[in-house]
Amino acid sequence: MKKPLFVLAPMANVTDSAFRAMFAKYGKPDVTWTEFVSADGLCSPKGKQMLMRDLAFTPKERPIVAQLFTGHPEAMKKAAKMVAKLGFDGIDINMGCPDRSVEKQGGGAAMIKDPKSALAVLEAARQGGIPVTIKTRIGYNAVDWKWLRLLLEQNLPVLTVHLRTRKEMSDVPAHWELMSEIVKLRDEVQKEVAPENRTLIIGNGDVHSLVDGDKKIREFGCDGVMIGRGIFGKPWFFNRMVKDKTPEERLKIMLEHAKLFAKTFNGKKKGSHKNFAVMKKHFKAYVSGWDGAKELRVQLMEVENVKQVEKIVKEYLAANF
Ligand SMILES: Cc1cc2nc3c(=O)[nH]c(=O)nc-3n(C[C@H](O)[C@H](O)[C@H](O)COP(=O)(O)O)c2cc1C
Repeated sequence: MKKPLFVLAPMANVTDSAFRAMFAKYGKPDVTWTEFVSADGLCSPKGKQMLMRDLAFTPKERPIVAQLFTGHPEAMKKAAKMVAKLGFDGIDINMGCPDRSVEKQGGGAAMIKDPKSALAVLEAARQGGIPVTIKTRIGYNAVDWKWLRLLLEQNLPVLTVHLRTRKEMSDVPAHWELMSEIVKLRDEVQKEVAPENRTLIIGNGDVHSLVDGDKKIREFGCDGVMIGRGIFGKPWFFNRMVKDKTPEERLKIMLEHAKLFAKTFNGKKKGSHKNFAVMKKHFKAYVSGWDGAKELRVQLMEVENVKQVEKIVKEYLAANF
């Protein structure tokens, strides 16, 4: 792939298939990640029916990586085979999520404390037969160079590093100052490997624009950046031709997103349901930055369905533009 890479972060209940389709239309990232999906859940018939909703994608989103979590190699092996069959371009193992319920199952950030289990789960994921990447944090309670070194020894095609510890959650600025050290460690660990075949390192944390990403890549030497919260309310984020959208354009795109969400998740298809309230965090992000945005936001926080959104947006557009 061309470097540097600008990729869409996995975000549970944010980067669902409807939102990803909006990115595919308005500004495609170089690689798209799905929300995290429980490999254990995929192995139970009831869980599978529900989770297949989170693994639905369209060819326009490619290349697309399915993110899985589990502490159980057997579950990972089965899930990896399923994901490969669905046509994904890769599997990413979540080794950084601080969610207690994920950690309790031995997945997410808990893997940082249990490298043996992490390697067993990696080995199992590779049985799916498609490329396997890892997303992790810089450590659990403190920066853990042993952990990062171990991951860099695994010949991964890509390692995404969220530059905070598990303990720091998202409460402190990401430690970008560590990135050059991580790249140096990669080059030392993989000195026998040709530079073009070494693990690509993607930095994550607090990147708020493409220009900011360019700057961080230049300054710290990573191969790309992954953007999470910076993309809220901006499906055009990855489009270099677009600087920003006018309030009118933002509202039209928001309505299109809400309609797509309702069509995808509020129809009759079994196992596809998602509460429409999920859209409210998107409304907050789309509707901001102009006089009168707050009043409109307040109205949108009360809606229960897409018809109400359409009415509010159409009336607002007619009155203001
Ligand atoms: C609402 C939300 C959901 C998230 N869900 C996931 C997830 O499913 N898998 C994952 O690896 N990280 C998840 N993350 C973490 C992000 O991928 C990313 O690592 C983090 O937000 C830091 O990047 P940022 O500063 O660009 O947001 C989530 C973050 C947020 C805010």
